[in-house]
Amino acid sequence: MSTSRFKAVIFDLDGVITDTAHYHYLAWKRMAEQQGVYFDHAFNEQLKGIDRMGSLELILAAAGRLYTLEEKLALADSKNLHYQELITGMTAADLLPGAVAALDAVRAAGLKIGLASVSKNAFTVLDRLGIRDKFDYVVDAALIARGKPDPEIFLKAASELGVAPADCLGVEDAVAGVAAIKAAGMFALGVGLVSVLTQADLVIAGLDGFDLAVLQQVPVRLQTPAA
Ligand code: BG6
Ligand code: MG
Repeated sequence: MSTSRFKAVIFDLDGVITDTAHYHYLAWKRMAEQQGVYFDHAFNEQLKGIDRMGSLELILAAAGRLYTLEEKLALADSKNLHYQELITGMTAADLLPGAVAALDAVRAAGLKIGLASVSKNAFTVLDRLGIRDKFDYVVDAALIARGKPDPEIFLKAASELGVAPADCLGVEDAVAGVAAIKAAGMFALGVGLVSVLTQADLVIAGLDGFDLAVLQQVPVRLQTPAA
């Protein structure tokens, strides 16, 4: 009988397992600046975990003019092409420190492993990293109607893994992603800064600090009701 408090761990991809968050940043920055929008890391923080069109809308809202749907689709395509160029040379060397060890530790503990990324490039990135077969289930972002912070993608992963949300641990680097995990009723492990991921139950700097034994002991934070 498993004594684990969790039955599944559901990982985000970009910024957790590999540093594609930086490539998304570079591609959005070029597009934003071409539209006359000032773009820095603080702006980018709001875009982490947000799907492609949602991110584009946030940038264009700062552009000071309206865009037609055709223009928006063209801009989203050009950002995506630039992003795809940036990830062309990715290999297993681009796995963040501790990522494979974390996946292997979860597997060794007998827990299910899911991936919940809203990126439509997630399968390509997993294949370049050579880790697709480490997951029991990878959500296809094309099937998700509502992006993070909506809990849909984490609930979909849990349901496909056959695990109740309360028995899942979600791992995220984005504010919107942590909010999605909490809205799904899961334990949220933030990867990044405590000062940014304020809703997380626990925050670690990177997956090299992932320790299932420690996670078993951390109490779940109760959601603070809106004032
Ligand atoms: C998320 C990233 O994982 O995927 C976002 O955090 C990105 O920055 C989003 O915009 C969508 O990715 P894609 O590859 O479908 O444009
Ligand atoms: Mg992310």
